[in-house]
Amino acid sequence: MTSLLLTGIGSLVTNDPARSELLGEIRDAALVIEGSKVAWVGSRRDAPAADSALDLGGRAVIPGFVDSHAHLVFAGDRAEEFAARMSGTPYSAGGIRTTVAATRQATDEVLTANVARLVTEMRRQGTTTVEIKSGYGLTVADEARALQIAGQFTEETTYLGAHVVPAEFADDPAGYVALVTGPMLEASSRHAKWVDVFVERGAFDEDQARAILTAGQGKGLQARVHANQLGEGPGVQLACSVGAAAADHCTYLTDVDVDALASTGVVAGLLPAVEFSTRSPYPDARRLLDAGVTVALATDCNPGSGYSSSMPLCIALAVREMHMTPAEALWSATAGGAASLRRTDIGRLVPGARADLAVLDAPSYIHLAYRPGVPLVTQTFVGGRPV
Ligand code: NIG
Ligand code: FE
Repeated sequence: MTSLLLTGIGSLVTNDPARSELLGEIRDAALVIEGSKVAWVGSRRDAPAADSALDLGGRAVIPGFVDSHAHLVFAGDRAEEFAARMSGTPYSAGGIRTTVAATRQATDEVLTANVARLVTEMRRQGTTTVEIKSGYGLTVADEARALQIAGQFTEETTYLGAHVVPAEFADDPAGYVALVTGPMLEASSRHAKWVDVFVERGAFDEDQARAILTAGQGKGLQARVHANQLGEGPGVQLACSVGAAAADHCTYLTDVDVDALASTGVVAGLLPAVEFSTRSPYPDARRLLDAGVTVALATDCNPGSGYSSSMPLCIALAVREMHMTPAEALWSATAGGAASLRRTDIGRLVPGARADLAVLDAPSYIHLAYRPGVPLVTQTFVGGRPV
């Protein structure tokens, strides 16, 4: 196994809970990669020898971003819908059906190329793990196909047959839930790690969502939920009661919701690029953090509610608009994402972790929020290799 010494690191964010302060930051640091893993981190002057060395000239190194919520398997876009929204048309989940129609018509090659393009875009911006959902197929064959394609790019695949009720089931939502919990789950579960439901007025109600999540769990999938995006509702508490890993969106929360997240340890996924792109109020990150809730930041990259693949944008928004500190925002975009995906091998740079990291053309991670819109990531390593 060959080793690579990264040295001249001006600031290394480890997220090592054994070190002091949230980010376990080491100044004037070095890091050794052996094969696909981190073998050593510490002060530059203590660095061991390695087969080769790369001097980063004072740049910052952070754990690669863990984007725990994205919808990348789709065709077409909804730029016109976005333009109309910016002139006052409100966002509604109804637009999902437009993308469903385009996705069903697309070939496997077109869908695969679209995911590849977006994953490349993400890697250039420092993302090293991305969760990818189905949810724009909504037939047995199209959901299984979406998950098969997603699985070519990530282990974190999520079955979202319950995104909305498709047009052909408009008069028979119960029939659609039976499909989602029956033949569609049967065909999809072997390609998925997670099951997700959009719990919202206009999508799925509490009883339908509980049936879908528990059916998925019965097939060995772990649960995550789209919750409380467009208004208060049962999503967060349902996520907590079924033992989901994450309740994502969390834009409209009651005190009972916040208490439930804090007491169960369900991760709250905040997706500020959606509020940016739908011109909605941002979720109250401070209220969650102050209550002791674990927060993840993710893009929710999708053609409707927010078509950004950029974790640095999410960090900048979280700091500027949601009153997270730069350190909290970076933690949530890395270790928080890992917690949301129940992974302990990513989101931190400690010996034994996967060598997934991003090099910033900046002296510290604070520049991610301080210099919004600037492409600061100069190199991304996934499993020890530059990509
Ligand atoms: O997470 N909330 C549901 N699904 C996506 C939006 C999908 C779309 O508008 O196409 C979301 O925001
Ligand atoms: Fe989503």
